[in-house]
Amino acid sequence: AEGRLRDKFGRAITDLRISITDRCNYRCVYCRTGNEGAQYSELPIADYLRMIRLFVSLGVEKLRLTGGEPLLRAGLVEMVQELAGMRTAFLPDGTPTTNGLPLDLALTTNGHLLEGLAEPLKRAGLNRVTVSMDAVDPNIFAAITRVPRSYEKVLAGMRRAREVGLGPVKVNCVLLRGFNDSQIEAFGEFSRREGVIVRFIEFMPLEEDRTWKPETVVTMDEIVARLNAVRPLRELPPNAASETAKRFTFNDGIGEIGIIAPVSRPFCGHCSRIRLTSDGKIRTCLFSQSDHDLEGLMVRGGTEDDLKAYIRQVVMRKEERHHIGEAGFEKPSRSMVHIGG
Ligand code: GTP
Ligand code: 5AD
Ligand code: SF4
Repeated sequence: AEGRLRDKFGRAITDLRISITDRCNYRCVYCRTGNEGAQYSELPIADYLRMIRLFVSLGVEKLRLTGGEPLLRAGLVEMVQELAGMRTAFLPDGTPTTNGLPLDLALTTNGHLLEGLAEPLKRAGLNRVTVSMDAVDPNIFAAITRVPRSYEKVLAGMRRAREVGLGPVKVNCVLLRGFNDSQIEAFGEFSRREGVIVRFIEFMPLEEDRTWKPETVVTMDEIVARLNAVRPLRELPPNAASETAKRFTFNDGIGEIGIIAPVSRPFCGHCSRIRLTSDGKIRTCLFSQSDHDLEGLMVRGGTEDDLKAYIRQVVMRKEERHHIGEAGFEKPSRSMVHIGG
């Protein structure tokens, strides 16, 4: 089994997301509820780097650092510097190479500490950031994050990221009916005014308690209809087959909206993603019922060949798809702070 990582459905695994801490400085209502007093688990940065190198040698080309809140992690800038030195292991035609291209390096953050870190991260070699923002109204924003004046901090961080060229900057907004769906139209204007890509995400059952209900999900069709009623949208072509978002702009070409619809239009068939949890376990799907302990194998002295063989074998067991909304659906074994989104 040489060549790029593939699962048993033939999907190439080229995209690795790593949660580098499960700590967070926000307590977003749909994420952190019930998690107070939880035990934190994170690994030395060197351990993540060692595991990432294995995945890169097996064909991963895109890395996304997440959390928890990744900007809380000491040593992050140095970590990005290391990642920026890595090269893809295969040419686009699939032949192995020792002098491939730089990786695509992205980070998902709540933005609270971004104003000070955007520039150092850019200099270290980070390509782009996605900032989570669930409202443009400062009061709704603070009600979601449960941190006062969080909106001002995040807005300043997002703007700085854009200034230093960590872009195109994307803004992720998870919609919960009755909570922040009032913000849809304002986010459309926000995208035009701020020059950022606003992505609406359908709420998925991933929280630690049970706030998820089908009625809470604001669907893609509904979002499109509401935006269209204010200002006509037109669809943009996808950037890549595995892209999660359907892309739109407004008729005058100003602003960009992405809609990520894992609930109403699942995209599992084109999934190219795999995840590493903050405690060093491989997660083959957001909705997996168990993880695979790569860190454990590493600590027990597994050789590079052992570890690579293990990764290949784990990827072969990647789930075909999620079963949200179907009878017998079970919530995943872990919540978003460990998995990283
Ligand atoms: P790029 O598109 O590469 O810029 O990455 P991104 O992280 O900005 O966006 P991405 O589409 O990868 O993730 C945004 C959100 O989509 C995540 O926070 C999740 O809510 C959702 N999402 C991402 N990957 C998956 C997945 O594999 N399955 C499901 N069900 N949802 C996902
Ligand atoms: N459903 C959809 N997206 C979620 N996120 C966190 N929890 C959920 C959920 N239950 C998003 C966050 C952030 C990213 C890491 O994942 O808003 O943008
Ligand atoms: Fe923290 Fe992100 Fe969860 Fe909010 S959604 S509590 S910012 S990890």
